[in-house]
Amino acid sequence: MTVSKIPLVAVIGHPISHSKSPRLHGNWLKKLGLAGYYIPVDVEPADFAHVLKMMPKMGFVGANVTIPHKHLALTHADHVSDRAALIGAANTLSFSEDGKIYADNTDGYGFIENIKDHQPNWNAASGPALVLGAGGASRAVLSALIEAGAPEIYLANRTRARADQLKTDLGARIHVLDWSKASEILDGIDLMVNTTSLGMVGKPDLSLSLKNLTSKTLVTDLVYTPLETDLLKQANAIGCPVVDGLGMLIHQAVPGFERWFGKKPTVDQETRNLLLS
Ligand code: ATR
Repeated sequence: MTVSKIPLVAVIGHPISHSKSPRLHGNWLKKLGLAGYYIPVDVEPADFAHVLKMMPKMGFVGANVTIPHKHLALTHADHVSDRAALIGAANTLSFSEDGKIYADNTDGYGFIENIKDHQPNWNAASGPALVLGAGGASRAVLSALIEAGAPEIYLANRTRARADQLKTDLGARIHVLDWSKASEILDGIDLMVNTTSLGMVGKPDLSLSLKNLTSKTLVTDLVYTPLETDLLKQANAIGCPVVDGLGMLIHQAVPGFERWFGKKPTVDQETRNLLLS
């Protein structure tokens, strides 16, 4: 008689205790009646390569990786997806039975699915976007928007050189703006995305004037603590459709779960409530 192994998956970070992923995946496993475990593992960067190598031997079928390992994970993978290579970071790893490591990045997928979930008629190709911020999260958002057909993407960052680098890496559809000029183009923008940490609990609000923003612009914030950031509150008052950032966290988890445990989980209000409680 063959006994099939119970799939194990970890989220690896340093620190990791704040991660909402174990609660998310644990709930999906329970709801779908699947055997499996998803656990948080705190690993220091110096130990990351060794831990990763051992995981397939221990029964792990995959892992999520988060700060500070997202870039390092790429360098240890045997196969890197195009989107992970473009973003320069991995968040989802799968292990084959012979111990090979496949690295993917589902952050951009999560970003797009979150918007579609709230605004089913939204189409990235319909007009220009403005992206604020040029860190790792911005890179994922920009590559997803380019892939989804955004015709033009204006990019503004406090440190302009980081935005220029993203244009160099990701291509001609990106137009870099000075941070101080971003507010001037708001009336011609279909989508506005905040990828900076501004607006997060404990950080200053985004101090961008929204006087040129009109109700045709969809506004979304990657910050989800608080769920309704000052940016979303102001945009809502103007009449813009708004999408909060919690759903990106949930949707980016879907492809990994499906790959590791064999069933696609649904994202609904109950899933959101679980992460908010
Ligand atoms: P992540 O990987 O989450 O994107 P990051 O690489 O640290 O994190 O990037 C944070 C982003 O928030 C950057 O665009 C950063 O701007 P800089 O590149 O100029 O640092 C932006 N950010 C953070 N604090 C800011 C502030 N007070 N004003 C403007 N932008 C800020």
